[in-house]
Amino acid sequence: LKAQSVQLTVNTAGNQKINKEIYGHFAEHLGRCIYDGFWVDEKMNVPKQGRIRMDVVNALKKIKLPLLRWPGGCFADQYHWSDGIGPVEKRPKTVNSNWGMVSEDNSFGTHEFLQLCDLIGCEPYIAGNMGSGTPQEMSNWIEYLNFNGQSALADLRRKNGHDKPYNVAYWGVGNESWGCGGDMTPEYYTDNYKQYAAFCKNYPGAPLKKVASGANSEDYNWTEVCMKNIHPWQMWGISMHYYTVVGNWEKKGSATEFNEEGYFKGMKNCLHIEDLINKHSAIMDKYDPQKKVALAVDEWGIWTDAEPGTNPAFLYQQNSLRDALVAASSLNIFNNHCDRVKMANLAQTVNVLQALILTDKEKMLLTPTYHVFDLYKVHQDATLLPLNFTSPDYTFGSEKIPAINASASKDASGAIHITLVNIDPTKKITVNTSFGGANLNSSEAQIVTSGKFTDINTFDQPNKVKAASFSDFKKNGNQLSVNMPPMSVVLVTLK
Ligand code: AHR
Repeated sequence: LKAQSVQLTVNTAGNQKINKEIYGHFAEHLGRCIYDGFWVDEKMNVPKQGRIRMDVVNALKKIKLPLLRWPGGCFADQYHWSDGIGPVEKRPKTVNSNWGMVSEDNSFGTHEFLQLCDLIGCEPYIAGNMGSGTPQEMSNWIEYLNFNGQSALADLRRKNGHDKPYNVAYWGVGNESWGCGGDMTPEYYTDNYKQYAAFCKNYPGAPLKKVASGANSEDYNWTEVCMKNIHPWQMWGISMHYYTVVGNWEKKGSATEFNEEGYFKGMKNCLHIEDLINKHSAIMDKYDPQKKVALAVDEWGIWTDAEPGTNPAFLYQQNSLRDALVAASSLNIFNNHCDRVKMANLAQTVNVLQALILTDKEKMLLTPTYHVFDLYKVHQDATLLPLNFTSPDYTFGSEKIPAINASASKDASGAIHITLVNIDPTKKITVNTSFGGANLNSSEAQIVTSGKFTDINTFDQPNKVKAASFSDFKKNGNQLSVNMPPMSVVLVTLK
């Protein structure tokens, strides 16, 4: 192994909070995410609460999953919430026309989703239907959920078993309204946003945090028009969706069979999200210099071809060490931009796209990406400590990207956490870090790595890629020196 080193300085006097909602996730009625992921057959022999799978819930509790977005995605703009309440046997069967034209029995609806959030201990984030719904329908859903007084809708909620209001706060007004959410122009969307949002009421004790449906990747004009036409006080945030695609949308590339070119392109395209955040933020700064409006990256992750032999409309993909590095690098970027990025939701938790968990009947496995979220949970609601360093390059052919990325934070107890990523597939890189005047006594570290970028966890070998304790580092006063193996994610905790 060729060795390299980099010098990194941590500014221990940060003042920006890393919103825990940056560690949010997304669960859509798509493929086997809800049905057969979270919500299983009554007869399945796994621990359950009703039909909610508790091994999945417990794994998500362990990483302190803070926020779950539902019911879509594209599905949100075809979802009529009243189909999913009341006695299950009376709920209509509908068609999931976005994802495989499969029958939707609506057995998992509003109450079931909110029970799931309650079991996980996370905040719900509901995407309301603007595409095929009406302002009245969206308004009714919020009244049903959040009104504590007497009204036909609040009474219906009580009749359906939930006396107290749910006080749902995070509310998406449409999803990808430039595409599957209605193919709108930004001008048309912003007029619609204002109309719908005007009827999304703040019931006593339940102020809404409304999220406008934002841009697709580089669509800066969308952000410009939204920021120009919607006043900062009319929205909590505006979203941005970006998926890491290695090839193109027709042939994205395999999740498991790729060479160094596929690895390099995956990492390069993942790091591109920082450029997007910078450019969308710069537009937002013009209209909202005080950064009151959040940039909510409410869909992100690597999107590959579906696993061979599975329904292509179900978007089931395996998850490799490359995906763990995509997650770790993206989360470092979000942390470092936490002045504007206040929410992010990885797509999509279980059995779809960059999932944390894969299931096969009773079996369940944690993906490499899961272990990154386990390491990074220490950053939730901590104070960002800005970093200063210049990374060595990882060169492939005529192209290069930074080999090292990192973020650091200080938690409420005063502990400092630094998460480092070495993307280079062959070089060990020593990261020498100085922590200014910090008084640090103890240190410990954990690592996620593996021998090959294509390494995955399978139902036969579920622990090939996992978090392990790590000792190849030295602390000398407030200087830290970490020997980062190739393709590794390291968390060092200093107290
Ligand atoms: O996550 C899969 C799909 O990707 C979502 O439904 C949609 O919002 C996006 O295009």
